[in-house]
Amino acid sequence: MNSQDPHRQMDAVHVKLFRQFWGLVSFLVLFILLLFLYIGYFTQPATWWSEWLTAKPQPSESIASTLSTNQAEVRYWVAPDIESLNDEGQKLQLRYGRELVAHTAQYFGPNGSIEANKTNGLNCQNCHLEAGTKVFGNNYSRVAATYPKLRARSGQVEDVYKRINDCFERSLNGQALAVDSKEMQAMAAYIQFLGKDVPKGEKPPGSGFKDLAFLNRPLDPIHGESVYVDKCVSCHQADGQGLKDPNGVYTYPPLWGPLSYNQGAGLYRMSNFAKYVKWNMPLGINHDDPELTDEEAWDVAAWVNTQPRPGKDLSQDWPDIAKKPYDHPFGPYADGFSEAQHKFGPFGPIKAKLEALATGAN
Ligand code: HEC
Ligand code: HEC
Repeated sequence: MNSQDPHRQMDAVHVKLFRQFWGLVSFLVLFILLLFLYIGYFTQPATWWSEWLTAKPQPSESIASTLSTNQAEVRYWVAPDIESLNDEGQKLQLRYGRELVAHTAQYFGPNGSIEANKTNGLNCQNCHLEAGTKVFGNNYSRVAATYPKLRARSGQVEDVYKRINDCFERSLNGQALAVDSKEMQAMAAYIQFLGKDVPKGEKPPGSGFKDLAFLNRPLDPIHGESVYVDKCVSCHQADGQGLKDPNGVYTYPPLWGPLSYNQGAGLYRMSNFAKYVKWNMPLGINHDDPELTDEEAWDVAAWVNTQPRPGKDLSQDWPDIAKKPYDHPFGPYADGFSEAQHKFGPFGPIKAKLEALATGAN
């Protein structure tokens, strides 16, 4: 036989067609696969696969609906609006609560209209920015969902009234309000209203302070002083005493001295101060565009928190000394590190030791 056999010729054509067909099919399959990968990787805002890979717990539906979207695709908590309510009585109370948080000094400061000299003249809002609604501005978003809770500082279960009075007695270096007073009730109602959509036990993204990496060295107050002079003096003044308007209300609050927060206050811990300042100061900056380097934030904390300020009887604090935080500057301690290291760091080794003690690994 020869190669001109028509059967053999037909076979060869079939085989060729068959090969071309499969070539085309596999090309198409590959193409579609790559197309999907491309779409999945580059164009999907909802990165289900990355969530799946990192297995991060996601906020539940009910908070998700109250969260906003920023450019980085992180959805931060947004405060609910008092004016969207229908109950006029409730609105009045919440507006009063917000007013007390924003302008505390007018009611309880040295010339306060409700009770003078109940506080040092700071406003809650000086540290809980935008009346406690600013993302990473020490806002109140998680209070409703997490109180009452056991706090290691007091060793007690604290409700929101006790927590508010803690700030009156420490951050405002003043006296506690009566729990049944109209003012306490209004502030507590307002603070809890802000967190009303947060499910019990959850802390929404953007609550409290944004984290800040530790330095590997002790904090340096001398460097901190130069940061203060460069970046803070224009508002808080060279003597740290801030600036008052003609009515005696602070335009810029004091950072140390007799009218500042006392040694039992949250900001007296270096980590709280450094985080607050890194993500909120100089006034006007936001957590997504900080001005200070990490070193500047930590060192200015060391400068401010080594200036004179009111003391406080802390003998009842931290009944279980093993629960004292790594940067609590007063001994005795269960971890064996010195008071100096608890005040200035480096904090990494103390934190590691405390975690080991807590898990019983030591
Ligand atoms: C000088 C700064 C400062 C002032 C002024 C201040 N606070 Fe605070 N407050 C803090 C800091 C810092 C914390 C967090 C402390 C911590 O986590 O250790 C805090 C925590 C709180 C919390 C608990 C928040 C949470 O998420 O657990 C409440 C509630 C609170 N403050 C209410 C108030 C009220 C009400 C006022 C005014 C009467 C006030 N604070 C004034 C600094 C301040
Ligand atoms: C442009 C003015 C301005 C500059 C600059 C500035 N602050 Fe402030 N700071 C304020 C104001 C105003 C508040 C009170 C915020 C409010 O009530 O809304 C405040 C609040 C604070 C508070 C909490 C309230 C208190 O009195 O304890 C701290 C701490 C603080 N600033 C630290 C700093 C540090 C540190 C720097 C420098 C790195 C700095 N600030 C730079 C204006 C400024």
